[in-house]
Amino acid sequence: MRVFVVFLPLLAVFWSEGLWRKTETFRETPKIKFNGDFVIFGYASDTLLISSTYPILNSAAGEKFAPAKVAHTFGDSSIAISLEIATTKNITVSSLTYAILFDFELEDFAGSEVCVSDTITLSRSTIRTIQKSAQIRLDQSRPIENWREDVLFKLINSSRQDPKYYSMLEIQNRVVQDATWHMEMQRKSIIYLEKPSGANFEISWKFSIPEMEFTYKSGFWHLAKWAWLQYLSIYLIFYWIFQRIHRFLFENHVFFTTCCVKK
Ligand SMILES: *[C@@H]1O[C@H](CO)[C@@H](O)[C@H](O)[C@H]1NC(C)=O
Ligand SMILES: *[C@@H]1O[C@H](CO)[C@@H](O)[C@H](O)[C@H]1NC(C)=O
Repeated sequence: MRVFVVFLPLLAVFWSEGLWRKTETFRETPKIKFNGDFVIFGYASDTLLISSTYPILNSAAGEKFAPAKVAHTFGDSSIAISLEIATTKNITVSSLTYAILFDFELEDFAGSEVCVSDTITLSRSTIRTIQKSAQIRLDQSRPIENWREDVLFKLINSSRQDPKYYSMLEIQNRVVQDATWHMEMQRKSIIYLEKPSGANFEISWKFSIPEMEFTYKSGFWHLAKWAWLQYLSIYLIFYWIFQRIHRFLFENHVFFTTCCVKK
């Protein structure tokens, strides 16, 4: 009977596995830095405009390459980036798709490379200035496991020699398939300003970085602590019930003989 009192709570703890604290959460404002890299594709009716900070992509673009000037400023919890793309040809861009790359870091976690990507559709050919504001949110596909030792995940490996690797489709595939972290824009707002056609494109972003919630995998000792506490609380209940039954049986002499033979 005593064996049951010890083991039944253990079984109960296993059965109620869902109650184990396998993950924990915390809130933090991550350190997010624009790492200077971007890829931008402008789609015109009969051509493409390509601008990026990756030499392989730029040289593969040939005459589709459009040089760009990038500037950025950052505050405690915001980043402003502005991009000026020189359009020497008189082309009508109908949509733009881009990826801007950031490195983020948490106090106890080495972080990762992440990107925001988006498509902007231009309703008029004379639109030349786009101002976008958004709040950044980091979405994680699995809880943080390996804290400081983690190697910084690179979304774009700039040593790669194949231009296709830098296409939006490939970048997006890596974001979806390989990356643990995904950067999202929320509370977006966008302003379009017109300028004479032929003028340079100017795109600016203002990102604000709020405090966010992160999930991490509880370490073994953390888990053991919770499992132990849970075991103890269930054990006390079982113990109490056991004592009740024992006393009841004893007082009523139900198992009088069994009881005494064992003792
Ligand atoms: C650009 O093209 C449009 C029509 O396609 C034309 O009206 C305009 O004058 C052109 N601008 C320049 C600077 O060539
Ligand atoms: C980056 O690409 C180069 C060339 O393909 C490769 O040798 C290197 O291992 C890659 N680095 C990472 C971290 O994947």
